[in-house]
Amino acid sequence: MKGVILAGGLGTRLYPLTHVTNKHLLPVYDKPMIFYPIETLVKAGIKDILIVTSGPHVGHFLGILKNGNELGVDHLEYAYQEKPDGGIADALSLAESFADEEPITVILGDNTTDADISEEVTSFKDGALAFLKEVRDPERFGVAFFDENKNITGIEEKPKNPKSNMVVTGVYIYDGKVFGHIRSLKPSDRGQLEVTDLNNIYIKNGEFKWAELDGFWSDAGTFDSLFAASKYWAEKNK
Ligand code: TTP
Repeated sequence: MKGVILAGGLGTRLYPLTHVTNKHLLPVYDKPMIFYPIETLVKAGIKDILIVTSGPHVGHFLGILKNGNELGVDHLEYAYQEKPDGGIADALSLAESFADEEPITVILGDNTTDADISEEVTSFKDGALAFLKEVRDPERFGVAFFDENKNITGIEEKPKNPKSNMVVTGVYIYDGKVFGHIRSLKPSDRGQLEVTDLNNIYIKNGEFKWAELDGFWSDAGTFDSLFAASKYWAEKNK
């Protein structure tokens, strides 16, 4: 399977740092943030990777990643998201020719995890699969709710009264139909093509599965989460 890392966005919550470089190149402990999702993919046997990025600092990626070989990547491609805050689904739409109608594993570039996703990657057939995680503050995330058979019946984005503690992380697997579904999306109130709207299409079609992300998981897109992720990796590496 091929992998896609979404590393566009504006990173406004990390201003002033992101005035001078791309969020995904900031350090999480001793490595640039983008190394973590790359390592998660490589560990799952995915060595053909597309990075979607945007903004004025895109050239910095080449300097740090080169052709990806030092991280175990066989083939590294880049795509440029014209509207940096067009939304996660907009960024993913740029992977269409790279995916070539095959399934893809997608990770948000600011997510770090030590979970092993290889089993789900290997056994994936069709539809979509999201990795979920139980958290204490679900209202910050996309929250999943379930029927009695533990099938997801919907996802609510940052609800005031979350219906569960299970949130959608930034790790997904999609089949080749994903790009057609993205074309049917309309921008949300904040003007973005939302990944939650995309996932809700798969849920409505009865084609959405989930697995628990078994291990540490955090985004690193705020100063608190960047600090928490750095602390975790510093302690783990000791
Ligand atoms: P967010 O953290 O939701 O957005 P952001 O990176 O623009 O940051 P901020 O809210 O602080 O301005 O995005 C999560 C990840 O999704 C991020 O690591 C990059 C990716 N992303 C894109 O690739 N394109 C986009 O248009 C958006 C919004 C996010």
